[in-house]
Amino acid sequence: MIVATTQRFPGEAWDELPEVAVLETWPPAQPLEGIEILLEAVVPVAAGELALLPDLRLVANYGVGYDNVDVVACRERGIAVTNTPGVLDAAVADLTLALILACRRHVVAGDRFVRDGGWQSGWAKPKLLGRDLAGSTLGLVGMGRIGSEVARRGEAFGMRVVHHRRNDGLPLDELLRSADVVSLHVPLTPETRGLLSRKRLALLRDGATLVNTARGVIVDEDALVDELVSGRISAGLDVFAEEPYVPERLLGLANVVLTPHIASATVETRAAMTRVLVDNALAFLRGEPLPNEVRA
Ligand code: GLV
Repeated sequence: MIVATTQRFPGEAWDELPEVAVLETWPPAQPLEGIEILLEAVVPVAAGELALLPDLRLVANYGVGYDNVDVVACRERGIAVTNTPGVLDAAVADLTLALILACRRHVVAGDRFVRDGGWQSGWAKPKLLGRDLAGSTLGLVGMGRIGSEVARRGEAFGMRVVHHRRNDGLPLDELLRSADVVSLHVPLTPETRGLLSRKRLALLRDGATLVNTARGVIVDEDALVDELVSGRISAGLDVFAEEPYVPERLLGLANVVLTPHIASATVETRAAMTRVLVDNALAFLRGEPLPNEVRA
């Protein structure tokens, strides 16, 4: 069996693959026959890529979000798709809290102030006065596994947690109007693309913080940049519309904390994701049911 992979994924589980399959680097320079499994992280897998792998039967996605994979095109060609749910919820929730704290307490701006030699006397400037998490309202858009982990952490910090979900919770507009911190935890789907439109962003309270560890295009990025340039709100952003491109207008702003799509990036979590990835590939090789098959 030949397996194409975009990289060597971290963790011990990876070593089980070369024992049972030949590994090829992907993307190939030309169509590659005989490859039945593709292992990848965040790279697009659509008709063009599928044409390079005529014998493909499984796309195993390293990540819980699989918006990069054209699942419908895969299904039409009899190709299964798997993802890595359940093992990264805590890591993503931790980074979400890190971004909330960084924004609400000016951690990055404070760090820059010290390094730049701005700290000349006593207590630092009023500009670095933050806001308490305790007593503030955390509005979660999406309340699945990751949203629930963020809720637990928010409650531990004394935040009042409200949520919006398709079938329950606050209506989205009401949540946006009432929360001090809004954090996004929905998958990218046709329904959630552009969910936080320019009009909806305008509903955020003055001084509110938006945190996005989900997908960049869930928010109208141009409108978000306009809001941030105006200084009306702050944001912690781990994801962007066209990664790795980050809008230049954000780079000089003190009210934005930027991280490079690292919400699941811990040694433990990435190794656990590799375990799930490899388990799906091994199940396929053995002809067993796939543990984490996703449906279009
Ligand atoms: C990362 O963004 C993931 O979807 O796991």
